[in-house]
Amino acid sequence: MRIDVVTIFPEYLEPLNVSLVGKARARGQLDIHLHHLRDWTTDVHRTVDDTPYGGGPGMVMKPEPWGAALDSVVERGAEEIGEGAVPTLVVPTPSGRPFTQALAEQLAAEPWLAFAPARYEGIDRRVIEEAADRMPVVEASIGDYVLAGGEVAVLVMVEAVARLLPGVLGNAESHRDDSFAPGAMADLLEGPVYTKPAEWRGRAVPEVLLSGNHGLIARWRRAEAFRRTLEMRPDLLDRWQRDAFDKHDRKALDALGVTWDEAGGRFRPDAPGVEE
Ligand code: 6GU
Repeated sequence: MRIDVVTIFPEYLEPLNVSLVGKARARGQLDIHLHHLRDWTTDVHRTVDDTPYGGGPGMVMKPEPWGAALDSVVERGAEEIGEGAVPTLVVPTPSGRPFTQALAEQLAAEPWLAFAPARYEGIDRRVIEEAADRMPVVEASIGDYVLAGGEVAVLVMVEAVARLLPGVLGNAESHRDDSFAPGAMADLLEGPVYTKPAEWRGRAVPEVLLSGNHGLIARWRRAEAFRRTLEMRPDLLDRWQRDAFDKHDRKALDALGVTWDEAGGRFRPDAPGVEE
């Protein structure tokens, strides 16, 4: 996969040389190109921002440097990817759609991504609209809080995408049991994990994990995922489909006080302290 990033802080993206992503780059599985937005300015001050039309606090990123930068990135990338090829442009913004595991999977299937992280109050809207006339554009947020700029969000998204690329993680099966992994773990959090020693500071590892009974272990892990999800993310229950659960699942859910509400068409936890 090819990835281009246009930013006024290329140094913010140094961590792309470390660990899993760094190794994927070194192996040639990820071809990451960082670009300095100011290289496409034309004034002596290399200006990338200006005051907002309509007034208000803060500054807005000017359209001209972004337009020229994206033209150049598209032209140079197409020489490598193929004539007429365009990247999927990812614009990190707190006003975007949620960046989810499903979106990470979609992006991981693309041959070429370009990221346009903004600073200040954001990029002049016309840049996004003009880009969308010639390439797919995804505006995405990494959560309900506001960062000072999109660079950290780029790190988050590139790491989430890179670990899904074939051959990047050591074990091809290692995604399957992740929290939010499509399939059996969609809308579920992964439960606790343990390693040696079997007893540590008086605390024993759950006995079932030492049993060697793989069916029983799988069932226990699933019940722990239910328990964890109920505790940390009860909002996820609304997404659970009844037919995604077999009889063992339903028994485990029942033991946690989670039952199918036929009238409401969803799973519901027992309301604690509420007498029926
Ligand atoms: Cl993608 N960018 C910024 N600046 N803030 C954010 C964000 C992105 N996602 C959540 N907050």
